[in-house]
Amino acid sequence: MKNEPLQPLNPSLEGFLEIATEAALSAGAILQSYWGNLESVQEKGRPGDLVTEADAAAEAAVITILKRHFPDHQILAEESGHQGNAISRFLWAIDPLDGTTNYAHQYPFSATSIALLIDGVPQVGVIFDPFHQELFRAAKGLGATLNRKPIQVSKTNTLAQSLLVTGFAYDRRETPDNNYAEFCHLTHLTQGVRRGGSASIDLAYVACGRLDGYWERGLSPWDIAAGIVLVQEAGGQVSAYDQSPLDLSSGRILATNTYLHEALSIELLQIKPLMMKFPAS
Ligand code: IPD
Ligand code: CA
Ligand code: CA
Repeated sequence: MKNEPLQPLNPSLEGFLEIATEAALSAGAILQSYWGNLESVQEKGRPGDLVTEADAAAEAAVITILKRHFPDHQILAEESGHQGNAISRFLWAIDPLDGTTNYAHQYPFSATSIALLIDGVPQVGVIFDPFHQELFRAAKGLGATLNRKPIQVSKTNTLAQSLLVTGFAYDRRETPDNNYAEFCHLTHLTQGVRRGGSASIDLAYVACGRLDGYWERGLSPWDIAAGIVLVQEAGGQVSAYDQSPLDLSSGRILATNTYLHEALSIELLQIKPLMMKFPAS
């Protein structure tokens, strides 16, 4: 049986990028409007996993814009979950406020992250940090930009010269696979390992060369889908820790400027969990 030819995308990736940008800028304005004025900061489940009224308002704004343009697409949003036509090839992964802990403490390092996955593959990514007015955008085959100027990953090619970033998932008190050992080990081998508190900005910073590599576990697709497109389009590499193809549902990602990919993968694979004992909380 002959395969049916795929229909051309309507709109094009540029068109999707424009709508995602409109949605991210609109969310950013909402995040700025709630800044320092939060009435509700609640824990969602695990200690430290916060949600505020700004998360909800920004998410609603993004979804309204996307649904207006693409009523048949699927949506996967952090606070409201999945909606839309499950047989659609198009899925929007939305983190309305990536870096809620930072935001709740008025530490200005948070962003809205919006990605379009087509047939399960991230192809469009927009990350907007309203506190630095930085708009990161990328689409498959079209390159990556910061405030509409092309960006590229760094050329650092030794771990000893590198600046890396990572994060710690909200289940870190419950599992020895909490990334503490990896953090210590790589802090020792590099010029430093940052913990930004916003996975999407971490990836955007790898894409624009401020950071040379990023790894983390315990993530959700909305945290990383947009950043994946950015890193790939800026000349970087994205995979599982062992360099096999990334599985978004694994929650684990290794993203680098390409030059450091193998070296960082080798280090990550040899680290044994640090079995730290904690006082009862
Ligand atoms: C979190 C941030 C953080 C990462 C956590 C994420 P949130 O997202 O991206 O950097 O370490 O694993 O859950 O909860 O602020 O949207
Ligand atoms: Ca997030
Ligand atoms: Ca979030």
